[in-house]
Amino acid sequence: MGQAVRSRLPWKHCWITGGSSGIGRALALAMASQGVSVSISGRHPGALAKVQAEAADLPGRICNLPLDITDSAAVQALVDGWQPEAFPDLIILNAGTHQPDSAQNFSLHQARRLVDINLQGTLNCLAAVLPGMTARGSGQLAVMASVAGYRGLPGAAVYGATKAALINLTESLQPELAEQGIRLQLINPGFVKTPLTDRNRFPMPWLVPAEAAAEAILKGLRSRRFEISFPGRFVFWLKLARLLPYRLYFSVVARITRA
Ligand SMILES: NC(=O)c1ccc[n+]([C@@H]2O[C@H](COP(=O)([O-])OP(=O)(O)OC[C@H]3O[C@@H](n4cnc5c(N)ncnc54)[C@H](OP(=O)(O)O)[C@@H]3O)[C@@H](O)[C@H]2O)c1
Repeated sequence: MGQAVRSRLPWKHCWITGGSSGIGRALALAMASQGVSVSISGRHPGALAKVQAEAADLPGRICNLPLDITDSAAVQALVDGWQPEAFPDLIILNAGTHQPDSAQNFSLHQARRLVDINLQGTLNCLAAVLPGMTARGSGQLAVMASVAGYRGLPGAAVYGATKAALINLTESLQPELAEQGIRLQLINPGFVKTPLTDRNRFPMPWLVPAEAAAEAILKGLRSRRFEISFPGRFVFWLKLARLLPYRLYFSVVARITRA
């Protein structure tokens, strides 16, 4: 894609999976407003086109690349379509979904769907982009996980499991990729107001607007930090909860969920 406009951020071309809605959309618009060329992917061309139209007057161009990340062949074909000089210098593997679950109505179909999109889909993208990036020895990559991956939470058993897996995966890959000149970062947001969380029927502490989330992520992507997590106070309490022994952790969780 063309990169005629001068970017005011350290990147010329960013690829965002899940760029048609919520956090991905806010990130795409924030980067385009700073002159970055942004390629956005999602399954629905109409939703991508809407974001592209919103960016019509911004200095950076938005290019729509419809894609289902669960289709590994389609992901590979999309990545193979970029000439080395047009390859994104920032890739944000953000696409994901959430569906509350319960032990009583546990659905294998729903569990597989979450694993296919959140975990397998992200693996499909990583498998497609890593060979070129490691061959060039450059580039920046960020994986969208969640604070829900820190410890098990009622109602988010499978979602939390996919996000815990992404946290572990990203931690595992970071040292090797750093040695090869690739910057890998992990994004762990708390609650962000998006169509995904609009479905939640419980009070969400420290809920932040998608635009504020995009701002925090962009700040983190420019920093040397491995983990980009926010909002600070929520993350602080959840990280503290990681240190609790199981008996104490389960009694705190039971008290909160009964309240
Ligand atoms: N909102 C929060 O509070 C929060 C907190 C922590 C982490 N996160 C994570 O942040 C990411 C974005 O969430 P969001 O809140 O912005 O949700 P969202 O508004 O529902 O956006 C999800 C995006 O992912 C895309 N997507 C879903 N399945 C896909 C697939 N199979 N292939 C390609 N694209 C797909 C969607 O587009 P299509 O449906 O058109 O494909 C959409 O663009 C997710 O990974 C989520 O787990 C969110």
